[in-house]
Amino acid sequence: MKKLLSLLTAFTLLFAFAACGNENGNGNGTPSASYTVGLLQLVEHPSLDEIRGAIIDELAAQGYADTIHIDYANGQNDGSTMNTIVQKFVADGDDAIITIATSAAQSAASATSEIPIIFSAVTDPVAAELVSDLEHPDGNVTGVSDYIDVSAIFTLAEELTPDVKSYGFVYNMGEVNSVSVINQAKAYLTAKNIPFEEAYVTNIGEVTTAVQSLVGKVDAFFLPIDNTVASAMSNVAEIANENKIPVYVAADSMVYDGGLATAGINYKQLGKQTADMLIRILIEGEAIADNPVEVMTEYSVIVNPETAATIGVDVSKYTE
Ligand code: TRP
Repeated sequence: MKKLLSLLTAFTLLFAFAACGNENGNGNGTPSASYTVGLLQLVEHPSLDEIRGAIIDELAAQGYADTIHIDYANGQNDGSTMNTIVQKFVADGDDAIITIATSAAQSAASATSEIPIIFSAVTDPVAAELVSDLEHPDGNVTGVSDYIDVSAIFTLAEELTPDVKSYGFVYNMGEVNSVSVINQAKAYLTAKNIPFEEAYVTNIGEVTTAVQSLVGKVDAFFLPIDNTVASAMSNVAEIANENKIPVYVAADSMVYDGGLATAGINYKQLGKQTADMLIRILIEGEAIADNPVEVMTEYSVIVNPETAATIGVDVSKYTE
């Protein structure tokens, strides 16, 4: 009996050791992860979640599910939370960092000038001071940009709602991505003599009040690619739709969450390109400098037929 017990103990120990040796693996004898990549996502909203899913799917599709271990953290839309997270990535000696959204990339860039940082969904990487030249990244940072062409969105707006004579903007001035798109929008509308009003938010809790403050003052909303507003998009849509105000947005997810329409990029594709860039830099040893920032340039029109029906706008051209 005693012998059996010690034999059992020996087996247990053996299994325990085997499990340790395979810490990052799947326990089925496949090789353990040999790279650790910190993944910082600014906040969880549908578009950023879709990007993260696409990055992880692409790494798996290319056969790296077991060799690249992704250490994911949600920044909770909070600067100090993000700084703590990236400091941990650095202290852990991560092999690379992937970020999703502008301020996540800015936090990572301020924490390390050595670990390669591959960003995704940074609307204006130059304004965000992540690179000084899109073609020639000269530090440890490069990635994929979701630059927005506002003229495509306003052209669509002119077509769908030709009676709109003024626009209201709601955004977080602390988001460089939003300010960059808003500056473009202001230039576009000013050139056409179309008036606009603005309401600012600093956090998700302020979005509803800001939207309400413009009801009755503007004919339509234009919402930039703003993470704070996107996080409260269904509330925005509820107020706007009740008041029959068209909402033009800068990202497909904000249409799915109740906005009227956009001309936007494909975020699944953006996530895929981010993963491909990580593989080139981390696995194939390419230099950051040889990986210019990739800018998504294909836009497609996305409309929300339900919202259109609620507010009485004909979008049939884009649904048939
Ligand atoms: N481009 C945004 C940024 O730079 C991030 C983003 C991606 C986003 N998809 C979005 C913001 C959809 C709002 C809605 O931070």
